[in-house]
Amino acid sequence: MKRSIVVTGGAGFIGSHVVRLLVNKYPEYRIINLDKLTYAGNLANLKDIEDKPNYRFVKADICDFETVCALLQEEKVDGIIHLAAESHVDRSIKDPFTFARTNVMGTLSLLQAAKLYWEPQGWKVGDVPCRFYHISTDEVYGALQMTDPEGIEPPFTTKASSGKHHLAYGSEFFTEGTKYQPHSPYSAAKASSDHFVRAFHDTYGMPTVVTNCSNNYGPYQFPEKLIPLFINNIRHRKPLPVYGKGENVRDWLYVEDHARAIDLIFHEGKVADTYNIGGFNEWKNIDIIRVLINTVDRLLGRPEGADMDLITYVTDRAGHDLRYAIDSSKLQRELGWEPSLQFEEGIEKTVRWYLDNQAWMDNVTSGDYQKYYEEMYKGR
Ligand code: NAD
Ligand code: TYD
Repeated sequence: MKRSIVVTGGAGFIGSHVVRLLVNKYPEYRIINLDKLTYAGNLANLKDIEDKPNYRFVKADICDFETVCALLQEEKVDGIIHLAAESHVDRSIKDPFTFARTNVMGTLSLLQAAKLYWEPQGWKVGDVPCRFYHISTDEVYGALQMTDPEGIEPPFTTKASSGKHHLAYGSEFFTEGTKYQPHSPYSAAKASSDHFVRAFHDTYGMPTVVTNCSNNYGPYQFPEKLIPLFINNIRHRKPLPVYGKGENVRDWLYVEDHARAIDLIFHEGKVADTYNIGGFNEWKNIDIIRVLINTVDRLLGRPEGADMDLITYVTDRAGHDLRYAIDSSKLQRELGWEPSLQFEEGIEKTVRWYLDNQAWMDNVTSGDYQKYYEEMYKGR
């Protein structure tokens, strides 16, 4: 079946992996990357596929309702995979309005445009059933405690509902039924957008699906987020600002595993359903930071651990969520998805990628990446 799919936010970190996967895997599909190119959008992330015949880039704001409506009609779009968002918690603390505008109003603009185009055709384009797939985060669920019912010092081994054992820092996990309790302006805006998506299903019958994923890591992540920022700082022997005591726990997933899950759920997920995506891979920030230091040092031929003194404890992030931990057993059970990489392998691969792609990093930190669109897309 031929499909025409808009991926929003395809020039960002996760979006670029999703676009690459879809463009390469489905030459018969048309993949349209709709992205405003904010500071977080970087078309150099997609250099390797930008000339493929089944790919088109459109520079536009999801809040620009008229443009979105026109694009859906022009391209006869039957699927939307919605990743465009403001995504950094620290920025949301300083500038919550931008987060409400893009994450809430932008999502509503896309939903309304899709409804106007799809509803009169019975939620089909030709004979292809439509789908609105909204990518969300585990942060909407709030924070979990670090507790152990048997009084063992965490991390301890726990058994997920999938039946597998893994290390955990608490006995509770976010499931698809966990109530929403966002704490940051970022997660509050994402939570609101999730509610709008579900409301469009319940009110109008739009075929929607929502996924909530844990922290991603891997190539092409903007170096304001913990892992790429710290790899770059260690390389340049700059201080590593650890918020609070570095005791906060995140559940990390390699970005290509997330992209594979998105592909699977877009095609096979149940309409109106929600799936949690995560790696059963909990780490304290400070432990990850030590792994990053050891790995960068080793790969650069420095004595392993030589850069531990770069660790600098700074004032904690306001409202800093203590622990995130996703139970992704529903996705594993129902659709057979599993993370493909162990964290140790994924981190090694990621550190190598950033060290081998210093030109990409320099282009981002200098701001030169923002000229890419004008230089490469002028006259297209
Ligand atoms: P990112 O910040 O790297 O990329 C966001 C992209 O959206 C950029 O290309 C940016 O230009 C684009 N964008 C922003 N505002 C726009 C607008 N108004 N119109 C059109 N495009 C716009 O983000 P990311 O880390 O790749 O996250 C992508 C999605 O996945 C987000 O919805 C985020 O909430 C979700 N998510 C991220 C993580 C994570 O760990 N990064 C985890 C779970 C869920
Ligand atoms: P981040 O990558 O911003 O993702 P999120 O806030 O969405 O989880 O941060 C990951 C963790 O690292 C989080 O607990 C905050 C912490 N952190 C630091 O300690 N120092 C930093 O400079 C950054 C960016 C994050």
